[in-house]
Amino acid sequence: MPKAEDRGERAILPSLFGKDKTENWEKRRKELGEILAGEEYGKIPPPLPFRAEILKTQEEFAGKGFMEWLSLHFEREEAAFSFPARLIYPKGGRKFPFFIFANFSDAVPDRYFPAEEIIDHGFGVLSFCYQDVSADLDSFGQGAEKLFLSGDRAPSDFGKISLWAWAMSRLLDYLLQRGLADENRIAAIGHSRLGKTALWAGANDERFSFVFSNNSGCSGASLSRNKSGETVKIITDAFPHWFCKNYRKYADHEASMPFDQHFLLAMIAPRTVAIGAAKEDTWADSRSQYLSCRAAESAYRLFRPGTSFEDDSPRTGKEYGTSGIFFREREGTHYLSRADWLYYLRIMEKSAPAKSENF
Ligand code: GCU
Repeated sequence: MPKAEDRGERAILPSLFGKDKTENWEKRRKELGEILAGEEYGKIPPPLPFRAEILKTQEEFAGKGFMEWLSLHFEREEAAFSFPARLIYPKGGRKFPFFIFANFSDAVPDRYFPAEEIIDHGFGVLSFCYQDVSADLDSFGQGAEKLFLSGDRAPSDFGKISLWAWAMSRLLDYLLQRGLADENRIAAIGHSRLGKTALWAGANDERFSFVFSNNSGCSGASLSRNKSGETVKIITDAFPHWFCKNYRKYADHEASMPFDQHFLLAMIAPRTVAIGAAKEDTWADSRSQYLSCRAAESAYRLFRPGTSFEDDSPRTGKEYGTSGIFFREREGTHYLSRADWLYYLRIMEKSAPAKSENF
């Protein structure tokens, strides 16, 4: 059967708001989070105390900054777990705007991580490789999950996206302890499956003032209703472990979901979120990501004026957003590129006019 939109119908999305709009946004925001936790990602595990170890520090980036090799150690009941992370920051001895970056590799720099250029903008980054937190496999037991799970996952227990999001929040705990970051300018960032993760981490943890989600697509920034490319069925067949078991109910039944991905984007209001799409990334589907921003904007408008999602489909290169939710589709393929980083840096710089003093 052709999709509803092809038949000239608009998808009917579940409403972002309860009965009462403005004064209850905090309450409604929590309800949105409970729905997404129960039906899609599973609940993010609770914070745990940890011991952080600095394994090595060295001057880097032609003497403009520092790089540190870290390890975070957790213990709970009988279980113990550690994961490594990498910290880079400019010289200057003041508080820097920061990214917590979930990456596919632990290398710094990396093809997705133009580290020196970020330092030159006066920003720090705390990065980790997601598979060091929990393997990207449909098996639970060996990674951070062993701190929380005993036996099989219940239908609304966390999937891996929630575990990786948990790690982002623990790194944020650490960053705040170090006193290196400007507390009002800390961003969660990730690409693709880790763009989904950054959204879920930022939606739940209000200490992230910015969230940057690059090419996150299905079950990330894209609306699931009427989506082209990847669907809930395809993603839960291929990657069931990313989600809670309940999510599977909606495979080929998107119209019955009591939520859609605009709930996720709205949960970040009134903080700032930017969605980066790529023209050739038809799997993620730029238009669905754009329509999700448009549907979520009413939450941002509770706090700031803005109506810049007036096009029916996004125009490549045009930057949308004035109210705290931003969208841009660039030319090219699925990738976290230099151009994407520069876009996100620019959004943060508008509220964080920081330049490295040593450059
Ligand atoms: C697959 C998957 C996407 C995901 C991507 C990635 O293509 O279908 O949903 O975003 O991998 O993480 O690279």
